[in-house]
Amino acid sequence: MEKRKVIIDCDPGIDDSLAIMLALKAKEIEVIGITIVCGNAPVEMGFGNAKKVLKQVGRLDIPVFVGEQKPIQRDYVNALDTHGADGLGESFLPEVDGYEQEMGAVDFLASVLKREKVSIIALGPMTNLAALIKKDRDAFFDIEELVSMGGTFKSHGNCSPVAEYNYWCDPDAAALVYDTMYQRDRRIHMVGLDVTRKIVLTPTILEYICRLNPEMGDFIKKITKFYFDFHWQWEHIIGCVINDPLAVAYFMDRSICEGFDSFVQIETQGISMGQSVVDAMNFYRKNPNARVLTEVDSYRFFRLFISGLLDMEPDELDILQDIL
Ligand code: BDR
Ligand code: CA
Repeated sequence: MEKRKVIIDCDPGIDDSLAIMLALKAKEIEVIGITIVCGNAPVEMGFGNAKKVLKQVGRLDIPVFVGEQKPIQRDYVNALDTHGADGLGESFLPEVDGYEQEMGAVDFLASVLKREKVSIIALGPMTNLAALIKKDRDAFFDIEELVSMGGTFKSHGNCSPVAEYNYWCDPDAAALVYDTMYQRDRRIHMVGLDVTRKIVLTPTILEYICRLNPEMGDFIKKITKFYFDFHWQWEHIIGCVINDPLAVAYFMDRSICEGFDSFVQIETQGISMGQSVVDAMNFYRKNPNARVLTEVDSYRFFRLFISGLLDMEPDELDILQDIL
């Protein structure tokens, strides 16, 4: 099978870290680089966290590029309240020194996209992508496919009644990316809260992972404990929503999610700042610039996620269906 080349643009981040690990294990994907953007954590902290994750899975050969430090117009608001003071659930794993690249994230994107057929899985605010559009529009249009964890259609927001964090953190960047895709009749795969909210890592699933692979289980436990507590406090659920790995899983297997094509615009002002306005009824008579996901098969997600992370055959996960 020919592997599809991808760049993971992310802000690690607890769920970003799980997504990176899944992508690195996926047989269908070759991760050619990781670009870091400010989001959950400031960009330097995100860089450090990506290296910690790569060290954990023995993949420090993957280059990590530091990207934009602040949103294109608005003041930067991190999400360390959700991800812990170190951005990795207060696991305080040892820092990994070195591995700095000479190039920044946006230069890396511009140069690699011109040479190779590469898709991007964007798991943070879209500031790096907006900077790429400003720097080299043609390179942006060379992106083979763009999958973005962000936005929401009918589900409520997680930063305001209507806005999801990645688009709320840098609404101008998200708006620019969606508008630019519209101009060329291209579509973003919008993996929003409508589907990611259904992906809850419960204590039982986590315990199952620990039984199957204690080392991986312990690592996931370490980085998600804070996230579990946060979800209990704010959402009153036992478990944590792991948004970002769904975007990777969907890239690997489209049939995990269902959705529809629509024109989407991102609001940049006022009380609905960051909202992804999905024109499902075609009021605006504009061509779709997004595939908006609305349904997910969470069993199939966890089958792919756990078997992928643990290098197992999906059929070996014999009790998974019973514990979901
Ligand atoms: C998104 O925001 C971050 O907290 C997560 O990493 C995810 O990318 C969910 O709204
Ligand atoms: Ca993220």
